[in-house]
Amino acid sequence: MKYEDAVKKLSAYGQEHVLRFYETLDEGEKEALLRQIDEIDFSVISALGNEKENIKRGVITPLAAMRADEIESRKEIFREEGLAAIRAGKVAAVLLAGGMGTRLGSPDPKGMYDIGIHKHVYIFQRLIENMLDVVREAGCFFRLYVMTSEKNDAKTRAFFEEHKYFGYDPAYIAFFCQDNAPTVDFDGKVLMESKGRISTSPNGNGGWMKSLERAGLLQEMHREGIQWLNTFSVDNVLQKICDPVFVGATILSGRDSGSKVVRKANPEEAIGVICSEDGKTAVVEYSELSEEMRYAKDESGDYAYYYGVILNYLFSLSAAEKVMNEEMTNHIARKKIACIDGEGNAVRPEVPNGCKFELFIFDLLKGMNGCLPFEVVRNREFAPVKNKEGADSVQTARELCRENGIEL
Ligand code: UTP
Repeated sequence: MKYEDAVKKLSAYGQEHVLRFYETLDEGEKEALLRQIDEIDFSVISALGNEKENIKRGVITPLAAMRADEIESRKEIFREEGLAAIRAGKVAAVLLAGGMGTRLGSPDPKGMYDIGIHKHVYIFQRLIENMLDVVREAGCFFRLYVMTSEKNDAKTRAFFEEHKYFGYDPAYIAFFCQDNAPTVDFDGKVLMESKGRISTSPNGNGGWMKSLERAGLLQEMHREGIQWLNTFSVDNVLQKICDPVFVGATILSGRDSGSKVVRKANPEEAIGVICSEDGKTAVVEYSELSEEMRYAKDESGDYAYYYGVILNYLFSLSAAEKVMNEEMTNHIARKKIACIDGEGNAVRPEVPNGCKFELFIFDLLKGMNGCLPFEVVRNREFAPVKNKEGADSVQTARELCRENGIEL
């Protein structure tokens, strides 16, 4: 991008200060800054002015899930349907591994974390082992798209290569980098990380479709006849990926999507719950559920808001493409953001000084023509590694692995 074009783009968003130190930069830095300005979508900043509008929720009502006992009784029909789709190359997996893993506190990508005790068992390895179970069952590989972020891309790719893709056929694995969003101060002015670099952060786990498109991978999917995407998080070491039963149940439901859900451990568990919002499937976060809703019962005496999402979704590719081109909500998080001030001095804030913008994957559900909430048995399929200790930690995940006969 030329300097004049950068000025034009920035002034359209009232961000001319980004070029304040331009003349002090060397040629390489100038070029890098112009490239960054070219790549960044500054329109996300408008979410700051529309914050109230964005978080306004519709009418929330409970949504029933397909229960584990019903699934068990129809398992073979679902499995055959799912296996047929996998064998026909219609199903691919998308691993969301662009997060920072701040709570786990490791400097490496979360998937590189070793949960092994007597041997190395890396999180990425566990996920691939789960995929290989399906590969054996179906008798064929299926595609895996791994989303990284600018900060962990090189390490992630190198790690997979070093470990020979944990036995998965590398011809079926593609990496792509998620987009970044600019960070801003509370007045909506872009923060600078240095004189020649805009401060950015990964744009959340909901931008993966756009990032796939930018990487040219959606076109590839269409060429190959892929119709369904099983999108999943990096940190659940027990999850089944492209689970034929889940795939088959979703396809046979005639809906555009499916979501694996677990029964909440108790009404106070801090987990997003699947629900209906103005007649569309949605996720309501723990903080948004009133006490009355948390304890409400349905006609069978179970808690009405009882099925927690575990970030394992199946989306129809064409429906997801449609929704990504409609408005996805930019959620705003107020954070401490290291930056420079107007004089170029480093600022290391002790209280939040700015905002990050994030898209959430579950916002895709609202645009879908239906979603099948599919109950899985919690102790069999849900072992998230979020924290170093305590709940949802390395320790709890290890115990659950042991319970399921997985050697560590
Ligand atoms: P989390 O919300 O648990 O975030 O992500 P995290 O970054 O892994 O961990 P903390 O909150 O910093 O401790 C849920 C899933 O979404 C992915 C993560 O990699 C994980 O699989 N994710 C999150 C992205 O791919 N990109 C993002 O920008 C954020």
